[in-house]
Amino acid sequence: MQLYKNKELRSNLVIKEVGGKTMKAMVVFAFCIEYIKDLVLDILKKAIHGLDDNDVHWVVTVPAIWNEQARQFMIEASAKAGIEKENLTLALEPECAALYCRYLAMDKQEHGDNVEIKAFDENARFMVVDLGGGTIDITMSEVISTGQLREIYNATGGPWGGNFVNDQIMKTLKEVIGWEVMRKFQDEDYDDYLEVLRQVEQIKRGVDHDSEFVVSIPKDLLTNINVPDSLQQDVHIGKKSITLSTSLIQKIFSSSVDSMIKHVEKLLHNGEACSVSTILLVGGYSSSKVIQSAFREKFEKKYRIIIPLTPDMIVLKGAVITGHGIETIVGRMAKYHYGLGLSAAAVSGRSISIGDNDNKTFFSLIKKGQKIKVGEVVTQYEVVLKAKSKWANLEMYTTKDDKPRTIIDNDHFTKIGGILVKLPQFKRESILILTISYDETEFKVVATDKNTGRCFVGTCRFLEKESN
Ligand SMILES: Nc1ncnc2c1ncn2[C@@H]1O[C@H](COP(=O)(O)OP(=O)(O)OP(=O)(O)O)[C@@H](O)[C@H]1O
Ligand SMILES: [Mg+2]
Repeated sequence: MQLYKNKELRSNLVIKEVGGKTMKAMVVFAFCIEYIKDLVLDILKKAIHGLDDNDVHWVVTVPAIWNEQARQFMIEASAKAGIEKENLTLALEPECAALYCRYLAMDKQEHGDNVEIKAFDENARFMVVDLGGGTIDITMSEVISTGQLREIYNATGGPWGGNFVNDQIMKTLKEVIGWEVMRKFQDEDYDDYLEVLRQVEQIKRGVDHDSEFVVSIPKDLLTNINVPDSLQQDVHIGKKSITLSTSLIQKIFSSSVDSMIKHVEKLLHNGEACSVSTILLVGGYSSSKVIQSAFREKFEKKYRIIIPLTPDMIVLKGAVITGHGIETIVGRMAKYHYGLGLSAAAVSGRSISIGDNDNKTFFSLIKKGQKIKVGEVVTQYEVVLKAKSKWANLEMYTTKDDKPRTIIDNDHFTKIGGILVKLPQFKRESILILTISYDETEFKVVATDKNTGRCFVGTCRFLEKESN
């Protein structure tokens, strides 16, 4: 939440801990990442014999609203935690969420249940509402013809995340028990104080529209209590507990829910949202029954509302899919020539045709020494495929020679992978658009069938890290 207020994540940013001490955010972030990394590696190494640290690719998720500087911050923090840049992908949280749900939808379609497919048809627009502990993040995306997602809007809705409810409950307890008594309790029995916080969190997760809220409180805090008049009706003091009435706990939830519903409603009236048909709820807070009913009540008539079974895990699962979907090589300068191995290729301009012939010729796509910028399409070609079989394999080769030879042989070329492309049976030729792009951490080769819009992603190891 300090980041929410601060907005800018600079490498020298200082943050405060509970007791008021300050520390560099970079140190804290790096420590947290390292802790999780070590824990995961420990478990993985027990399960996979001979696993090397470099066998693991890490995906760190960041909110969509973060700028380049904040992303750089995460890359640096990850490096400090021992994750090299080439083993790291930064993924946007709402994109992960959307990706997972799309994946889920495809899975369902294959198993004959197409209920949730419509939300992800071409041109469909949908809203992802990520209800976290701190903030509510809202994104709207559109499914484009390649099946990829295009973000049309993103924003942080506001600080009404799940922790806001805990804070309000703690505030009420303090008003009942007395601020001074609670401050002393927190200072002197921090473990017991934490236990109360944990309990509040646990009970909150089970709250429904008719729940009372019963918290166990150490006995000595409950002697000599004067419940303020304003709370008389709604607070009951037991021997070892305090009970908040159903109406009070609903009121506390409302302080968060009303603001978020109002905000979502406003965004849905926004021009960009005109064809949004689906609202996707993710994030831990959307497990709450109170939240789910509020969204259903308000929006279900007009929109399809999707709440996955484990909303708190969706961003994580989407991040894992992201990590598997791409190759993870960083490079700023091509060390080799990279290109296609073509059977008797006929090349004209930026268009190449592939026939059937045994002698493979080398068709260069990226030249040795070519500079590559982050976030840019490096090169794009139209490839005409004239294959007789159902599948065509676009083979990728590298060569170290300064001037690449024409005919591919084992001495001078290394095969680095290929893209398997499925061809429509009824056509004699297909036109593929081959796009090689480089974003923050990776090279991606995508072949798009111009007619069907189907995408095929290459699994080539394209570039090696630039050595200094
Ligand atoms: N069953 C539940 N009912 C109500 N709230 C829940 C439930 N499960 C988790 N939460 C709340 O969800 C929040 C955590 O959600 P999540 O893990 O998505 O947050 P986060 O991504 O860490 O936070 P942020 O997105 O703000 O950075 C906490 O406030 C937690 O209390
Ligand atoms: Mg989150």
